[in-house]
Amino acid sequence: MNDLDALVRAAGEAFAAAAEPAALENEKARFLGKAGSVTELLKGLAKLAPEEKKAQGARINAAKEAIEALLAARRAQLAEAELNARLAAESFDVTLPGRKLSAGGIHPVLQTWMRIEEIFGSIGFDVADGPEIESDWHNFTALNNPENHPARSMQDTFYVDMKDADGKPLMLRTHTSPMQVRYARMHKPPIKVIAPGRTYRVDSDATHSPMFHQVEGLWIDEDISFADLKAVYTDFLHRFFETDDLQVRFRPSFFPFTEPSAEIDMMFATGPNKGKWLEISGAGQVHPTVVRNFGLDPERYTGFAFGSGIERLTMLRYGVNDLRLFFEGDLRFLQQFN
Ligand code: PHE
Repeated sequence: MNDLDALVRAAGEAFAAAAEPAALENEKARFLGKAGSVTELLKGLAKLAPEEKKAQGARINAAKEAIEALLAARRAQLAEAELNARLAAESFDVTLPGRKLSAGGIHPVLQTWMRIEEIFGSIGFDVADGPEIESDWHNFTALNNPENHPARSMQDTFYVDMKDADGKPLMLRTHTSPMQVRYARMHKPPIKVIAPGRTYRVDSDATHSPMFHQVEGLWIDEDISFADLKAVYTDFLHRFFETDDLQVRFRPSFFPFTEPSAEIDMMFATGPNKGKWLEISGAGQVHPTVVRNFGLDPERYTGFAFGSGIERLTMLRYGVNDLRLFFEGDLRFLQQFN
């Protein structure tokens, strides 16, 4: 029957035109679904006489099978096309060289930090760590900075919008010296400790960063003197810079928490800084008032403290001239240290 042949042809064309499985299933519904053309034709059989019904029914079923076969063929075609597209998209070139996993490196400032811990550790110094958000008492008062004394303005301080138990605003510690107080109040003499860590000041240029690192040193016992400071610190510099060919001088200075106080300068005998005095650390004999704030009797216990800039030591060791390079995260700079 012509009509049925036309229907099969129309289904074949519609299936071929369906470019993807979802569209194909829509076309299937048009021909084979509940309200599809073939189903409608089968419903029409009811009206026919029994003889005719049989012949016409057989033809309709043959057409239906033909359409189903066309559908199955198109489904297979589309599935294969989809697979081929996926294989093409996911293909990769097995001849490409592998990508190396690059190992991380230790930041130069941290390398110095570790080196300092190793050197002082080898002569019996403990290593301590403490809070970067400090109370007024630990950062200033316990260190003999009188209330409203101009000494407090020696350091431009970042205050935190929060108050401590005394009702005073908390701050980012301006130096590691509060660790002298924290550690000494928790340990009995002999007290022999370094405390490396981050410190903060409102300051920013080629040699100052608002966040920088210091290492505090403290040795308190009966009879620890300025001579011990000289010996320990000079030995540290020799070992840190791996040379005995450097001079060290202790230049009179002022800190409220030490008396006498000194600025430690050093001079290399060779290299780009040869012959120049370089300031490297603050230091001094711990002030009796501070020893008392440690909870100790200053008549019995004496000792020294120092506070050195870790970036400063790193710059001198590697010949870096701009402190900001340490904090910019430029791999071309950082990779030189690993
Ligand atoms: N805290 C001082 C500073 O930051 C350094 C220092 C530490 C000086 C210990 C003397 C003793 O400048």
